[in-house]
Amino acid sequence: MKPEVLMVAGARPNFMKIAPVASAMRGDGRLRGTILHTGQHYDREMSELFFEQLAIPEPEIRLGVGSASHALQTAEIMTRIEPVLLERKPAAVLVVGDVNSTIASALVAVKLGIPVAHVEAGLRSFDRTMPEEINRVLTDAISTWLFVTERSGLEHLATEGIAADKVHFTGNVMIDTLMRCREQAAKVDAPRKMGLTPKGYALMTLHRPSNVDEGSRLNAMLDPIRELGKSMPVIFPVHPRTRKILEGLSEGASDTIRMCEPLGYVEFLGLMSQAKLVLTDSGGIQEETTVLGVPCVTLRDNTERPVTLIEGTNHLAGTAPDGIRETIRRALTVPAEPRSPELWDGRAAERIVDVLASDLLEVGA
Ligand code: UD1
Repeated sequence: MKPEVLMVAGARPNFMKIAPVASAMRGDGRLRGTILHTGQHYDREMSELFFEQLAIPEPEIRLGVGSASHALQTAEIMTRIEPVLLERKPAAVLVVGDVNSTIASALVAVKLGIPVAHVEAGLRSFDRTMPEEINRVLTDAISTWLFVTERSGLEHLATEGIAADKVHFTGNVMIDTLMRCREQAAKVDAPRKMGLTPKGYALMTLHRPSNVDEGSRLNAMLDPIRELGKSMPVIFPVHPRTRKILEGLSEGASDTIRMCEPLGYVEFLGLMSQAKLVLTDSGGIQEETTVLGVPCVTLRDNTERPVTLIEGTNHLAGTAPDGIRETIRRALTVPAEPRSPELWDGRAAERIVDVLASDLLEVGA
């Protein structure tokens, strides 16, 4: 019997990371990969649509936890995953990224003596007010395999005293998915369907609690974007968290910003590829725009992905309106080219599966 690796996915940014790993596991053939969906995200356009577009196999287990406070959501995932792990006794649990599903599953697994593999380990914003930063630090501390996307991760893990033999620099699985889906995105041609001119519009996403949870702050941040909207269309697929707050604002996003529902992966990738400018507070989008060669203005004070600033097309704007205004101006004048940070070559998932299969089969032998 092949060793089972239980892969946990819960929230939207997890799905594009799990997809290439599941596919590489099938291709490699030495391990049996199964998928567990925690249900942290549950709206069709935040979850099922991604499974369909990325051809991710149907999850064998669904925990159906839904939304709640951090404590309740984390506790609910832990409570529901424990009996699953006790019954199946997988050889390893694989978690991705930095969401509540990541730390909750890792914590339960490790206490049951099941080793944890963390994909996208070592990233640090050094901002402990971000829930994701807490999830990253804790997940890395208890993982057996730490798969790193960029060299900064190697330094951070060494500083935190993680043994070097647990750490593997394997590249970026999110870029594996991007490379696989580029052609399909070009065919679907979302910009044309939305009546947009290639390189003639901006695309924005915003959902970080620190940016969107307080209406007055969000409103101030949107000012420079409303101004940008007077010179080019600004497309804004709105995360459910952000929508709730926007509904309470008297101005809304304004006439110059074109709001829509969250988009599927393929449509969003198509829009990103042809955008003149991307504005975001997401982590993954900073990486994707670097590979696509599209200028990215990150609406945050820090980033856990410094390679996108040093080698890529990313510009850190902060969150003050004047800083955002100035950074948009700069990003529109500096030329941007597609960049390939080390090992962002579309084969990260294969390398991850190779390490896991070699180690797990050695243990079993
Ligand atoms: C989570 C992740 C964040 C990731 C983001 C991507 C954590 C700590 N945060 O934040 O790192 O970047 O996902 O989207 O895990 N909601 C819906 N439908 C859904 C999902 C959520 O309406 O399918 C609403 C709920 O009202 C919920 C709110 O969005 O209360 C926030 O969802 P939650 O999963 O708690 O956090 P995110 O802000 O999505």
